[in-house]
Amino acid sequence: MKGIILAGGTGSRLMPLTKVTNKHLLPVYNEPMIYYPLKSIVASGIKDIMIVSGRGHAGHFLNLLGSGKEFGVRISYEVQEEAGGIAEALGLARSFADEDKIAVILGDNIYEDNSQIAKAVKEFDQQKFNADGKTVGGAKILLKEVPDPERFGVAELRDGKVISIEEKPKQPKSNYCVTGFYCYDNQVFEIIKNLKPSHRGELEITDVNNLYVKQGSMTYKMIKGEWTDAGTFDSLLKASNLAAKINLARNKGI
Ligand code: DAU
Repeated sequence: MKGIILAGGTGSRLMPLTKVTNKHLLPVYNEPMIYYPLKSIVASGIKDIMIVSGRGHAGHFLNLLGSGKEFGVRISYEVQEEAGGIAEALGLARSFADEDKIAVILGDNIYEDNSQIAKAVKEFDQQKFNADGKTVGGAKILLKEVPDPERFGVAELRDGKVISIEEKPKQPKSNYCVTGFYCYDNQVFEIIKNLKPSHRGELEITDVNNLYVKQGSMTYKMIKGEWTDAGTFDSLLKASNLAAKINLARNKGI
């Protein structure tokens, strides 16, 4: 299995912090933001990782992370010319993924408990479905109950299954936010190739996920521990506080 970290986009909600640098290089407590999703993927045992970033700052990621040796992994880099959406950024990793399954994480997502990611990857690796007469691996998402679901992709659940996902709904059907970690089989790249841009002109990861829901091959894991994104001033502050808590626990050996 291969890992992909998506670190493109404009970071416009964090201006002027993102005027001369990339959002994912900003500090979250005592480390650059990208360290957190990178460590989440590394914790699942994946050794081959690609970072997709925007054009302006691609070299900075290379300066910061190099070959990945420091983290015990191999890192490759790809450039997304313009912020055409999460699914567009993921589509750029097609030849890197080759025929493999993939684990994808958004570069601004911070998970308190990386063992949840490792468990999800293991579960996903074993899942199999029959769809249109062939065996497929399908997809898996991580859900978290949040007080403000309208800010996120929101999953509607029935009988232990995801039945639909809505992107930033005005009237969410649940409080279950689709967090920014996704596992996909290799079908994902054909799905992305056939996607149409949304009303905001982006290829949406929620449209990708809904196609797996329709195929009946989408599973989910309700995660333990805290989670946050870091794309707004409030969530960036929340991320720093969460990172400080993780750090304290680590230093106490918890
Ligand atoms: O954080 C979880 C949420 O992330 C999900 O619940 C939503 O379903 C999903 O659409 C996404 O929502 P956001 O509005 O927070 O996405 P944002 O545009 O902030 O992008 C999140 C990350 O994705 C960003 O840190 C880098 C990457 N990205 C984004 C875009 C638009 C790219 O690599 N390229 C892009 O063009």
